[in-house]
Amino acid sequence: MNREQTQTIGFIGGGQMAEALIKGIQSAGLASPEQIMVVEPDSPRCDYLRKNYAVRIAPDSTALAAGSRILILAVKPQIMGKVLAQYRGSVTGNHLVISIAAGITIDALSAGLGDEVRIIRVMPNTPALVLAGASALAPNSRVTAEDLVAAKAIFSAIGTCVEVSEPLLDAVTGLSGSGPGYVFAFIEAMVDGGVLAGLPRPIAEQLVLQTVLGTAKLALESGEHPAVLRGRVTSPGGTTITGLRVLEESGFRGAVMAAVQAATERSRELGR
Ligand SMILES: NC(=O)c1ccc[n+]([C@@H]2O[C@H](COP(=O)([O-])OP(=O)(O)OC[C@H]3O[C@@H](n4cnc5c(N)ncnc54)[C@H](OP(=O)(O)O)[C@@H]3O)[C@@H](O)[C@H]2O)c1
Repeated sequence: MNREQTQTIGFIGGGQMAEALIKGIQSAGLASPEQIMVVEPDSPRCDYLRKNYAVRIAPDSTALAAGSRILILAVKPQIMGKVLAQYRGSVTGNHLVISIAAGITIDALSAGLGDEVRIIRVMPNTPALVLAGASALAPNSRVTAEDLVAAKAIFSAIGTCVEVSEPLLDAVTGLSGSGPGYVFAFIEAMVDGGVLAGLPRPIAEQLVLQTVLGTAKLALESGEHPAVLRGRVTSPGGTTITGLRVLEESGFRGAVMAAVQAATERSRELGR
């Protein structure tokens, strides 16, 4: 995607996620500061965004819609009904609307904005805040190939991005959406294990965080199957295989799989 294709990106909501996206978009050179507009009710927050990212603050929803080709809905799901009502009429078939609100379906977005609107629903996750997120996006039937290229470029600027059909977004929510919670719990448990084995807590924390980061980096960069990489670190009769036996006896893999499945089911329930 180049700047001409992007034109102006309008953010509805200038919170944490919007800031991560603005940072990503600017560092990837997808849009210049003047090509980013924000509507945000909190004026200190507007000053902060203007000062740090030189973005334009739109006076109201009509000005934002009139000045943007891509609109990113980055408000909390609880207020989405009210926000859609504000934009109905000013959002047309010429806009691409991207929503990152958890649990708000494409049908609900279309019902609020109009059937002619091109909509992409995205499920990002919190590591997006440090430009290392994992996002999955699902388009409605009106979305064009060019829209998808633009949306993928935006979400690739805050990490990695895949395309799925909308029904799979519940599984994405249970996996990468809730995943940081599982990984934090694993990190905590590893640190406690280190403390139990006699290490001072700050040292255990430093070692565990780098181990998790480095292991993911190794898996990503080598492109090898995790089982192959695990095989390489388990020497016969060694320490790693001894530790792994305890994880297997405790049902570690089954517990992780069941956690993803339960979270997926909960996401489905919340969407009903
Ligand atoms: N954070 C995550 O990791 C994450 C992950 C996946 C999905 N999401 C989704 O991303 C969305 C945004 O999350 P967030 O963490 O960025 O929330 P946030 O920091 O609370 O940002 C939302 C912003 O929208 C503003 N706002 C409220 N009403 C508005 C209106 N009518 N027009 C324009 N702006 C308005 C809020 O201002 P006030 O504070 O003044 O009300 C706030 O600054 C949510 O729908 C969430 O489900 C977030």
